[in-house]
Amino acid sequence: MNDRDLLLGIIHEVKNSVGILQGLMELLKRNLKNQDKKLAEEISSEITHLSHILKRSSPLVNSLKLSISPIQITELLDRVLFLAQEDLQKNRITLEKRYPGVLPEIKGDPELLQEAFLNLLSNGIEAMPKGGRFIVEAFPKDNFLQIEFIDKGAGISKENLEKLFLPFFSTKKEGLGLGLPLVQRIIQSHKGEITVRSEKGRGSRFIISLPL
Ligand SMILES: Nc1ncnc2c1ncn2[C@@H]1O[C@H](COP(=O)(O)OP(=O)(O)OP(=O)(O)O)[C@@H](O)[C@H]1O
Ligand SMILES: [Mg+2]
Repeated sequence: MNDRDLLLGIIHEVKNSVGILQGLMELLKRNLKNQDKKLAEEISSEITHLSHILKRSSPLVNSLKLSISPIQITELLDRVLFLAQEDLQKNRITLEKRYPGVLPEIKGDPELLQEAFLNLLSNGIEAMPKGGRFIVEAFPKDNFLQIEFIDKGAGISKENLEKLFLPFFSTKKEGLGLGLPLVQRIIQSHKGEITVRSEKGRGSRFIISLPL
């Protein structure tokens, strides 16, 4: 067994136990009152935090090794947008797909790229709590495929832009700050690049280039 599979196995086991703990705490809370209930709620919220960290850990460990195959990026984007569909609708966000039916194939790990794109989408959705517009664009540029995720949400201050990809940087109450470091790691492991353009109050544009 290699290191990666060992780590994934450990994460899986811990995740199972944490899931059981979560369920047991819910049962326990039903029969508690006052101070005891408060204490149980504190424990529950720590367990939830732990489960968020574990959920984030598997893709991080997975990104240690790529499973490369040819990818039609438009199919992958369609899939990701399909998966995010409900979330987008629920948040009253209209989606604009700006990419043709077919683009030049790239080589990459579809699962990891999907994970990266989903993270950018959920950040965009979280930046538009009152609804808005989300645009996904993809086109070839020189020897790269450029993919852009554009939201018309809260935007990012100059000060925060510098910290964006640092692990554990988050401005959200429940945020871990592990999404963008994971995205960056995945893109870099594909010999690609990710950059951001953003203006406070106007929205953000995450630009990914992947080699063709
Ligand atoms: N599209 C966006 N619009 C505005 N701010 C953003 C956007 N994407 C990221 N950010 C800022 O960057 C921070 C870090 O993002 P990141 O995805 O790494 O962590 P997070 O979303 O806070 O938590 P999680 O680990 O659950 O993803 C966010 O807390 C937010 O302040
Ligand atoms: Mg995030």
